[in-house]
Amino acid sequence: MSDTRIAFIGAGNMAASLIGGLRAQGVPAAAIRASDPGAEQRALIAAEHGIELFADNAEAVAGAEVVVLAVKPQVMKAVCQALAAHLRPEQLIVSIAAGIGCASLEAWLGERPVVRCMPNTPALLRQGVSGLFANARVSAAQRQQAEQLLGAVGLALWLDEERLLDAVTAVSGSGPAYFFLLMEAMTAAGEQLGLPRDTAAQLTLQTALGAARMATESGVDAAELRRRVTSPNGTTEAAINAFQAGGFEALVQQALAAAARRSAELAEQLGR
Ligand SMILES: NC(=O)c1ccc[n+]([C@@H]2O[C@H](COP(=O)([O-])OP(=O)(O)OC[C@H]3O[C@@H](n4cnc5c(N)ncnc54)[C@H](OP(=O)(O)O)[C@@H]3O)[C@@H](O)[C@H]2O)c1
Repeated sequence: MSDTRIAFIGAGNMAASLIGGLRAQGVPAAAIRASDPGAEQRALIAAEHGIELFADNAEAVAGAEVVVLAVKPQVMKAVCQALAAHLRPEQLIVSIAAGIGCASLEAWLGERPVVRCMPNTPALLRQGVSGLFANARVSAAQRQQAEQLLGAVGLALWLDEERLLDAVTAVSGSGPAYFFLLMEAMTAAGEQLGLPRDTAAQLTLQTALGAARMATESGVDAAELRRRVTSPNGTTEAAINAFQAGGFEALVQQALAAAARRSAELAEQLGR
């Protein structure tokens, strides 16, 4: 990746995370360019990462091998239509915008190699996970470039079908919020049981962190880890029974199905 020239269109939160991840992996500042309409934002990113920034998107993409579309989905159509004439056919387009399909991107940009990605917010801490889908025009070398780009901020997983990005959105894209909701609920429940709010919050957060690390680092699956800490007739079993009596698993399924449906609806609206 270190000799690949990359241009970011839009230098907001997600672009800054990716730029930071690439820089941390040793990609030289001279290989990265970005464009953004905000003068303050340009100055901030230039100061933080030492890269060159442009007000004009067309200037940023000149000479780049990979063009990362990192603007909000709502402005993507206008950005692509204005950029199309300035792109070369062999440039890889990587879109991180939620809900904009390859077909829409190709309708606005012309037929090109396109990788669509769905990252999530922990990318800000380089602890993200992304689903990636490549259209048929993407070469093996370009797949590797896209994987390395998203891999700079976490785990990057390929999907064989584009429609599965709705499921990725439901699981990991929106996923951090589900864990935050559980943290809120556990903190409130701890407070109800008499703990000071701060103590309940700290107990909850450190438990979440510890459980996530056990689940990711032990090589043991979550169901088995749960069995190991659930002794018959114990306190954990009492809680799990209460969760399951309330339909916990079915509720999680309904929630994720609702997110996937909404993702498909938004894609349909934004992609027109
Ligand atoms: N944040 C996440 O966790 C996350 C997760 C998955 C996917 N994504 C996707 O990542 C994309 C960027 O999200 P973000 O959170 O980084 O948003 P953001 O912080 O708002 O960044 C977008 C940047 O693009 C700039 N911009 C607006 N119009 C532009 C134009 N015509 N040309 C070039 N740049 C322009 C914006 O400037 P102004 O602010 O001045 O308009 C802003 O600095 C979105 O499509 C989103 O769906 C984000």
